[in-house]
Amino acid sequence: MAATGTALLDELRATDFARLDASGTVYLDYTGAGLYAESQLAEHLELLRGHVFGNPHSVNPTSSATTELVERSRAAVLEFFGASPDEYVCVFTPNATGALRLVGEAYPFRAGDRFLLTFDNHNSVNGLREFARARGAETTYVPTAAPELRVDEELLDRYLAEVGGAHHNLFAYPAQSNFSGVHHPLEWIERAHEHGWRVVLDAAAFVPTNRLDLSRVHPDFVPVSFYKLCGWPTGVGALLARREALDELERPWFSGGTIVAAFVQRDWHQWAPGAAHFEDGTVDFLNLPAVEIGLRYLERIGIETVHERVARLGSELLGILAALRHSNGEPAATVYGPRDWDRRGATIAFNFLRTDGAVVDERFVDRVAARHRISLRTGCFCNPGAGEVAFTISRETLVGGEFGEGMTLDDYVDAIGLPSGGAVRASLGLASNAADLGRFAAFAQEFVDLAEVPDDLPARTGC
Ligand SMILES: Cc1ncc(COP(=O)(O)O)c(C=O)c1O
Repeated sequence: MAATGTALLDELRATDFARLDASGTVYLDYTGAGLYAESQLAEHLELLRGHVFGNPHSVNPTSSATTELVERSRAAVLEFFGASPDEYVCVFTPNATGALRLVGEAYPFRAGDRFLLTFDNHNSVNGLREFARARGAETTYVPTAAPELRVDEELLDRYLAEVGGAHHNLFAYPAQSNFSGVHHPLEWIERAHEHGWRVVLDAAAFVPTNRLDLSRVHPDFVPVSFYKLCGWPTGVGALLARREALDELERPWFSGGTIVAAFVQRDWHQWAPGAAHFEDGTVDFLNLPAVEIGLRYLERIGIETVHERVARLGSELLGILAALRHSNGEPAATVYGPRDWDRRGATIAFNFLRTDGAVVDERFVDRVAARHRISLRTGCFCNPGAGEVAFTISRETLVGGEFGEGMTLDDYVDAIGLPSGGAVRASLGLASNAADLGRFAAFAQEFVDLAEVPDDLPARTGC
């Protein structure tokens, strides 16, 4: 890596990410999954080829070799996020969702406790409300408001303050929206702590292009997925948890790996200390070394360099969408969320608009994108709350609008009067470049003066 600054990223695009241009691919789904560098794979394979690694739950030489690598990866994760090992524990999980599940199933909610979360959340955070309900805690959502899709902070402050006495209250929000790209303030963490809340900061969509420094902010639970951060490996995530918060969790079961001993003839088990208490069964030990390799790769580039690159390109992408007009002068695209580069990341949700102002069916957008070899995302991106606000769908519309017997997703979209099956999302990352934006602009031009879409679109399969 000889070049510096964002020039280094162009060099890497031509080497480590050459497969993009070799296949003519424009990849615009970095919030879905990051891309791995070829050199990451080579280093990982070399490590596997040159050693014998056994199951870490033992003390034999091949087992000890594995344990050493797993612990190195754990230390690398803490270091990458500036987390002191005195304050934080890194628990390896299958993905960010697995990290959230660990918190949800073990959080000591009691009747009268509160689970507070923003409308803008991934379904893997929304789903925590089922654990809260099962333990008698009350769930409250803080709304976001169009067009910026930011949170009403006055209301948030009120909710955070209106608690009293001894309680186990939990507040969850994303550092970056996986729908609109909004950066929700990290200052909320301390504000919530002042009122005794524990905080889940969903960092899954934030960390691939922003520095999360856990020596400056101190959320209690931080879920991440490493394939989003460094492209490889899949199947590995982490829960970064403050030790004092982790100590409060009440695991609903034990399993191999989580205990030091258990009896069959006596109802007794002794929990393993630290991260092991939360790592069910055997961790993904052959993939875990790739986490350290990936994080070192990112560190060499510098996450700030990636941030700078996506900020410039993201701002240009917003400009392309803003400038897109039909011959009749009407806009040919509409963006959901901030329209300028203010407190946001490079995840941009939008829809193309027809000449009569109606939303272009996202299935047609998919078809045109495929013709341009562009990979972007359509739907609601597992973030229904952001979608409900972006499309101004009221609670009244949704009540009674459940999926009926034999209903298809298309029937459902019609039944609740949605203009389409969702938005279009373009997201940028480490290997994005100016040429990608040129190809995106040419693709977007196809929607200028579009009056109708064909009626042979495929059935929708999911949102
Ligand atoms: C903000 C956010 N949280 C959580 C998740 C869940 O991640 P995973 O599917 O890797 O568990 C995602 C995935 O897109 C996300 O964007």
